[in-house]
Amino acid sequence: MRPLIVIGNWKMNGSPDSNQDWIKTVARGMESGMPSGRKFAVCPPFPFLSQCAALIKEHSLAFLSLGAQDASAHISGAYTGEVAASMLKEMACQYVIVGHSERRQFHQEVDEVVAAKALQVLDAGMTPVICVGETSDERNSGRAIEVVCGQIAKQVTVLQDRLVDCLIAYEPVWAIGTGKVASAQVAQDMHHAIRQQLGEFNEDVASHVGILYGGSVKSDNAVELFAMPDIDGGLVGGASLNPQEFLAICKA
Ligand code: 13P
Repeated sequence: MRPLIVIGNWKMNGSPDSNQDWIKTVARGMESGMPSGRKFAVCPPFPFLSQCAALIKEHSLAFLSLGAQDASAHISGAYTGEVAASMLKEMACQYVIVGHSERRQFHQEVDEVVAAKALQVLDAGMTPVICVGETSDERNSGRAIEVVCGQIAKQVTVLQDRLVDCLIAYEPVWAIGTGKVASAQVAQDMHHAIRQQLGEFNEDVASHVGILYGGSVKSDNAVELFAMPDIDGGLVGGASLNPQEFLAICKA
């Protein structure tokens, strides 16, 4: 049985004061217990990881893990501005998002780089959250499944059996930050296609890998999405900035 996982991606948001309020509110909301078989994580920007790790510890927040939004494809060395996966592990991160569509769009990240980053994250002992997704033009021209399965194929080539230790996040670009959530059936169809493609490579990987949905997830659509057989949770952007809304999604 795959666990349900909800991961908040704060993107380039947060401040020392608001981070403190967020963790305090989430700690209070989780104190009475959380549904079993679920995992939760939050991915603040790099400069806030240390503060958030300390706050999670201070509030004994056993239900909440820490994650980062990116990692370098290199181990260490002369890569100004980059952050190595091993450094994120030192900061108590358990998850690292790689290949987010905003990285692909604004930083020209291609599948090969995404796979190299995922390898670094795995080697450092954390779980990569590998993002894939199609644009609205690709969907409107009937190529959504072909595009996403092409992205997955590149990950399979590089990561092989190690994919079993990764999470995949299907985030249709047209649904990110737009309020246009994919219907539960559209998301399920894509998740099923991804799992089927992984199954052609390795049945064990296909049945064990968690596939999260991301793109305008809110507390009022999470229940329907998470009820789908191939949707194993959510990667939540905007709605995760509000701690009450994040809690409501975690409990959905
Ligand atoms: P929104 O939830 O704001 O649409 O963002 C989704 C996302 O990009 C999470 O990584």
